[in-house]
Amino acid sequence: MAEVIVKRAGKLQGLLAMPGDKSISHRAALISLLCDEKIEIKNFADGADCGNSLRAVEMLGGGVEQDGQTVRLTPPESGIKSPTDPIDCGNSGTTMRLLSGILAGSGVEARVVGDESLMSRPMKRIVDPLRQMNSDIQASEEGVAPLDIRPGSVISIDYIMPIASAQIKSCLLLAGLASGTKVTVREKLLTRDHTERMINFLGGKVAVEDIVPQIIPDPDDPRKKKKVLATDEYKRTVSITPEGRLNGGVIDVPGDISTAAYFIAAAMIVPGSHLILHNVGVNPTRNAFLNVARQMGGEIKIKNRRELSGEPVADIEVTYGPLKPRKISGAMIPNLIDEIPILAVLAASMKGTTIIRDAEELRHKESDRIRAVVDNLGAMGIKIGEFPDGFAIEGTGEINGAEIDSFNDHRIAMAFAVAGLAGHGKTVIGNSEAAAVSCPNFYTMLEGLRLK
Ligand code: S3P
Repeated sequence: MAEVIVKRAGKLQGLLAMPGDKSISHRAALISLLCDEKIEIKNFADGADCGNSLRAVEMLGGGVEQDGQTVRLTPPESGIKSPTDPIDCGNSGTTMRLLSGILAGSGVEARVVGDESLMSRPMKRIVDPLRQMNSDIQASEEGVAPLDIRPGSVISIDYIMPIASAQIKSCLLLAGLASGTKVTVREKLLTRDHTERMINFLGGKVAVEDIVPQIIPDPDDPRKKKKVLATDEYKRTVSITPEGRLNGGVIDVPGDISTAAYFIAAAMIVPGSHLILHNVGVNPTRNAFLNVARQMGGEIKIKNRRELSGEPVADIEVTYGPLKPRKISGAMIPNLIDEIPILAVLAASMKGTTIIRDAEELRHKESDRIRAVVDNLGAMGIKIGEFPDGFAIEGTGEINGAEIDSFNDHRIAMAFAVAGLAGHGKTVIGNSEAAAVSCPNFYTMLEGLRLK
C-alpha cells in the first residue's frame, strides 16, 4: 500500500509527451482480433488496463509481440478460439465491455471476470442489448460479472441507448462486426467515437448521421422562424454494415487527453507555471475538458492540429492565470466524464462556487467518484455539498494538504496528487499505486515539472 508524498509546488515548467490514449489503445488491441492482417500499434498505452486487453487477445488465439510502446498483433489464423480459462480483465471496464461484444459476435464460449472493483460494476447495460441480439450471455443475478458467453448466432439490432456510454455503443458495434450483422445504435448524448473512427480507418463501414434541426416558419407567427427536430429521442445514429474482416495496418495512438488533463490542471493552479504537451488527442467527443478549462480562465493554446490514424491531435500550451467557476452539466458530461475528479480539484483551487450535475455515472466508475471527491476535498478543508449526480464546491482559493485515500482508483490518485501541488503543507496519497492503471510514471512526470 504505497504512499506518495506531494509537497506544495513553486512554478511548474516543462515539455511533456503524453502516454498513448487508453481508449484508443484498448480498441486497437481488441479490434486486431477482427482483422485480416497484422496490426502494428505505436505509442500503445503503458498502463495496466491496456495490458489486460493484450492478454485477452492472446487468450483468444491472437499473436502479441510487445517492444516498449510498440505492439505487433497477429489475428488468430482460423478465427477467435474459445479460451480454456476465464479471461481476467483486471480493473478494466473497457476491456470487459468491448470484449464481451466481440465474444458474443464470434460464437465462442468464454467466461469473463475482473478484479473486485470491476466485478461490482454494472454489466446489465451490455447484457440486455446483447441478449436482444439473441446472444447467449449471462451476468450474475445482481447484473455484474462473471459474464458467461455461450456459442450462438446473433441477429441485427437497432438500439436507442438509455445511458450515454461509449462502452455500450462499442460493445454492440463490435458484436455486429464480429458476426457480420448490421447494428444501429442511437445516442441521446454524444459519446466518444474512437470505435467508429478506427473501424473506418481499417477499411470498415460505420455510418454516422446527426439529427439536424430544420428551420421552418413558426405556425403561430409566420414572421418568425422555428427550429424543429425530426425526433427528440436521439441526436446521432451510428450504424455498422460489416463486409468481412478489417484490413491490418499501423495505428499511431495519440497522447491521452485524459492524462494530459492532470498536467494541464497542475499548470492552471500552480502560479507562474508554463507547460507544453506534445501530440495530445483532441477528438471533439473527448475535448470538453479543454473547453471548460478555458471558460474557467485557463490560458490554453491548441497548436499544430493534425490527424493521426484517423484521430485529430495537437500540441497544447498552458500558462498559469486567474480562474473563475463555471457550471458543468448536461450534454457535455459524457465528453468529460473521466476528467470530473480533476475538474473538482480545479474548482477547489479557485474562489467561488462550482456546480457539477448530471454526472450520476461517476458512481459506477472504478470507484464511486462522487464519494471519493467529496471525502478527499473535505479532508483538504474544502466545503463541498453532495448531490446524487454531482457536487457543489465552494472554493476559497486555499487548499490544505491532507491524507488522501485513492479508493484504489487511478483517476482519484492522480487528481489529488495535483491538488497536493497547490495544498499548504504536504499531501499523502494512500494506495498511490492505483495510478499505474493508466499512467505508471505519473508521479515521476509530475515531480519532474518542478523548477529546479
Ligand atoms: C470509455 C468510455 C467511458 C469512460 C471510460 C473509457 C471507453 O465509459 O469513462 O474510462 O474507452 O469507451 P462509459 O462508456 O461507460 O461512459
